[in-house]
Amino acid sequence: MDILIVGGGGREHSLCWAISNSLKCNKLYCAPGNAGIANIAECVNIPDNDVSGIVTFAKENNIDLVVIGPEVPLVLGLVDALEVENIKAFGPNANAAKLEGSKAFMKELFKKYNIPTAAFECFTDFKRATAYIRKHNTPIVIKASGLAAGKGVIIVNTEKEAIDALDQIMNKKIFGDAGKEVVIEEFLDGEEVSFFALVDGKTAIPLISVQDHKTAYDGDKGPNTGGMGAYSPATIVTNATATRIMTTIIQPTINAMSSEGCPFKGILFAGLMIKDGEVKTLEFNVRFGDPECQVLMTRLDSDIVEAIDAAVTGKLVDINLSWKEEAALVVVMATNGYPSTYQNGTEIKNLNEVSEIDGVTIFHAGTKAKNGKILANGGRVLGVTALGSDVKAAQKKAYSAVDSIDWKQGFCRRDIGWRAINRK
Ligand code: AMP
Ligand code: GLY
Repeated sequence: MDILIVGGGGREHSLCWAISNSLKCNKLYCAPGNAGIANIAECVNIPDNDVSGIVTFAKENNIDLVVIGPEVPLVLGLVDALEVENIKAFGPNANAAKLEGSKAFMKELFKKYNIPTAAFECFTDFKRATAYIRKHNTPIVIKASGLAAGKGVIIVNTEKEAIDALDQIMNKKIFGDAGKEVVIEEFLDGEEVSFFALVDGKTAIPLISVQDHKTAYDGDKGPNTGGMGAYSPATIVTNATATRIMTTIIQPTINAMSSEGCPFKGILFAGLMIKDGEVKTLEFNVRFGDPECQVLMTRLDSDIVEAIDAAVTGKLVDINLSWKEEAALVVVMATNGYPSTYQNGTEIKNLNEVSEIDGVTIFHAGTKAKNGKILANGGRVLGVTALGSDVKAAQKKAYSAVDSIDWKQGFCRRDIGWRAINRK
């Protein structure tokens, strides 16, 4: 098959890496890709949100399958546009991508189909939203309903902060149209996990357990980021918990989406809060997590193209996924200043040597090649990924690789995996 991957982050590098190892992959393209992806795929200079540009490229190059990494092109209807041209596309269509594109849609679906989640209400009117806040306890969580590049959630501790946040979102429009509607919900305490399932419209297959670290600094402190590291297995998700998640959250959602006339295919990513064995859904995303994808691809032992093709063609009942016994862990290296302001263009040295270490894979996120050098070109820049006999061994290997990378303007957390390691 000739395959096009859409996106240019660490997630897409790991997808390209896994797909390029498949016997079913003939020619591999990535739009727009990055400096690491360029070593295994032909990068084409089309932004990931340029729906018509991507469709034209896919048609002109007889692409057999398009795999879409980020949420924005999914919400914009890239899958719909490709399907009109009879090109196979992995991911939900725009209607089904509402699960991530509209938190209000998602929460109303939870309510209608009894899927466990935080108590909530949706508002388009500032005064009504304010009245709701006055009647409820803090901490409380205010969310812009639409896509806000992962920044649309504000957790507040006082009524005043809550009303200020509402004012910022609804009146000052800090998230633009994404904040036209807000979800106000109960604060959930507990431990967060990322749960992924491969879905073909009807059948869902769970992926192996994984957990990420969202905040910028050690000890899970500091501002939220896209994710500073991840590991698998996540020991908090026992087999019994995974089965319960499938029967009470994932399968009911797949059935609900079909009943609502928007069957879901692609990757369903549930952000879950677990407390005393009880699981509640924080949110759904309609794509792989980044950096969770990097550890999932590292542990996957089955042919990913076969699995994706089965999801696209409604044949997942025939698929069994197998996984490496070893644990995997990814440490994200980011440019100093991330997730706030930072400078692009600093040089990263020693990457080739470190890539040679057995059991270590470096996935590029924000990088650019210039005159034979690799330059940082984004907030999250590299995902240094290692396999080990358990999470602790994978952590040790990943950090020894990180320490061999010569990049003074970058930083990373030093404690990725601590929850799993401490639980033992
Ligand atoms: P979301 O974009 O909805 O995943 O929210 C981003 C992050 O905010 C989540 O990963 C959680 O860490 C946190 N969060 C969201 N909703 C809640 C909630 N109801 N209670 C506690 N934390 C939450
Ligand atoms: N790592 C979380 C996400 O991709 O949304």
